Amino acid sequence: MPNRKRIAILISGRGSNMVNLLDACSNGSIYGRPVVVISNKAKAAGLQKAAERGVETLVMRHRDYDSREDYDKALVQELRSRDVDLICLAGFMRLLSPVFIHAFVNRIMNIHPSLLPAFPGLDAQEQAFDYGVKVSGATVHFVDEHLDNGPIILQKAVDISDCTSREEVSDRILAIEHELYPQAVAMFCDDRLDVDFRRVNIKPIN
Ligand code: GRF
Repeated sequence: MPNRKRIAILISGRGSNMVNLLDACSNGSIYGRPVVVISNKAKAAGLQKAAERGVETLVMRHRDYDSREDYDKALVQELRSRDVDLICLAGFMRLLSPVFIHAFVNRIMNIHPSLLPAFPGLDAQEQAFDYGVKVSGATVHFVDEHLDNGPIILQKAVDISDCTSREEVSDRILAIEHELYPQAVAMFCDDRLDVDFRRVNIKPIN
């Protein structure tokens, strides 16, 4: 058996996707080892949930650094010192600079609550509801220098045509997120993802 991939998860808030990934590592559906959860917010509710699951937590507040680059360099250092293979953004509300992206090319994943390229940026679920689309969904993608833009790993659609509020849309999409993110991370950990420019080819299970 190859070594388990070492995973870092970056959060800013409640961390439901983070918990879901940690639990998938514990129950064996992801062949990975979560080595650290980092939050840019000291009050992120997800921190305690990670600690309860025995995972190291680290608070790195962006306002303690002079610039975005300084912050990202410090992040890179923390991640490198833990020999991290994969970085999962899970509600991490920070744009990452090229300093960070270039340090971990095709090793940073993000989950976005829409079918990209529709509704990038903040509040994608609200954008979908307000636009009146009948179908939305979730996207797991690799992260590049541009917002919600990198090569797409997995997407799944959900019917939101009968939703009567933004919250209802969010809940329906969150259920899809919790399905999709562990699947994508498991594929990475099993060395099944092959990035060819914008296309992510998924290799069959050995
Ligand atoms: C999720 O909707 C995710 O798609 C977006 O931020 C939200 C984070 O939620 N990037 P949680 O903290 O994982 O519960």
